[in-house]
Amino acid sequence: MILDNLTPVGLDPILSLSAACRADTRPHKVDLGIGVYRDSHGETPVMVAIKMAEARLLEQQSSKSYVGMGGNESFNESMIGLLLGNSKAAARTAAIQTPGASGALRMLADVIKLSSPDATVWLSDPSYANHAPIMKTAGLKVRFYPYFDPATKLVNTAAMLDALRQAGKNDVVLLHGSCHNPTGADIDLETWKNVTTLAVSQGFLPFVDMAYQGFGDGMEEDAAGLRYLVERVESMVIATSCSKNFGLYRERTGAAMVVGKTLEQAQAVKSRIMESARGTYTMPPDHGAALVDMILRDEALRANWMTEVTTVRKRVQALRGLLADALREQSGTNDWDFITRHKGMFSVLGITPEQAQAMRHDHAIYLVDSGRINVAGMREAQAEQVAKALLAVVQ
Ligand SMILES: Cc1ncc(COP(=O)(O)O)c(C=O)c1O
Repeated sequence: MILDNLTPVGLDPILSLSAACRADTRPHKVDLGIGVYRDSHGETPVMVAIKMAEARLLEQQSSKSYVGMGGNESFNESMIGLLLGNSKAAARTAAIQTPGASGALRMLADVIKLSSPDATVWLSDPSYANHAPIMKTAGLKVRFYPYFDPATKLVNTAAMLDALRQAGKNDVVLLHGSCHNPTGADIDLETWKNVTTLAVSQGFLPFVDMAYQGFGDGMEEDAAGLRYLVERVESMVIATSCSKNFGLYRERTGAAMVVGKTLEQAQAVKSRIMESARGTYTMPPDHGAALVDMILRDEALRANWMTEVTTVRKRVQALRGLLADALREQSGTNDWDFITRHKGMFSVLGITPEQAQAMRHDHAIYLVDSGRINVAGMREAQAEQVAKALLAVVQ
């Protein structure tokens, strides 16, 4: 029988880590492994703007009939505005609503495969754990470009650009829009400019994954690199997520965008993406997109939402400051100051898998073996404890 050939595969390491943390009975345990934002009560709350939009939607929605393969077209337009702002390139961009950025990554990978079956996607080393599996499942080849420098804990820009000089017309270069997952180390605007020059001279297709807009330096600031790039390249693709900045994780809300030489070209590619959607999930779920569109188009709701995202960003920045201060005081060195230079929720600390395991076993502090922490998994009062444990395991 066909199904007899299948043996079980292991749980995702991050999910099994969360389960182990939940089962740990030590009262001082800290979960730095999770991939979602947590507030100072340790919760991942529904945003107030979302609750308000939901109340309005409940009252106004008169049908649950199908929407269409492209999803909510008004949402698609709103998302182009959120990411590209006043960029002229918005006029040659088409978007399709997808089930999260994950859906966008896969739909874009499918259309790249359709257009260029031998294309190679270059990912940062390291990158979001699902990037390589999604690209490979779509049949694309994957290569890594040097990115994280273990010595400085920042981006090794020279090595990155050197590697990308080898990328050509049959290559796709995937860049994180902001708040790099897992490292927290972002490229600066100068590097965005250098990548743009390379994309133009060598003809590779830039692919930006924007999953944390607003969590780094601000809603506009986090899109600055993308907006510089998009104005100068003939074409590119973008995946974006409303999971984090709208807190809509389980509603599976995101978008795939195609910037073409012309709007007609972008729309032609969009029609191919819709064809690919038809062959997979057919239509994206509506609820999250309806809420996001309502928020982005209503001045008061949008202002509310922006305030909430600012609160999240400031809290993450404050936690980074607390942890770096505690490490500076306890170690008497500036070795951990890089934590305040990282953006978004994640930081790679540069510790070994054995040290990460010792954090769990000896100190009840849960983080993945790669040494990535989610700063937002920590309460303010736990910074001293986390610092102490870190210094103990690296000694
Ligand atoms: C870089 C990056 N891209 C994409 C995603 C997927 O997000 P979504 O929940 O929208 O599918 C994530 C989620 O953690 C991410 O970190």
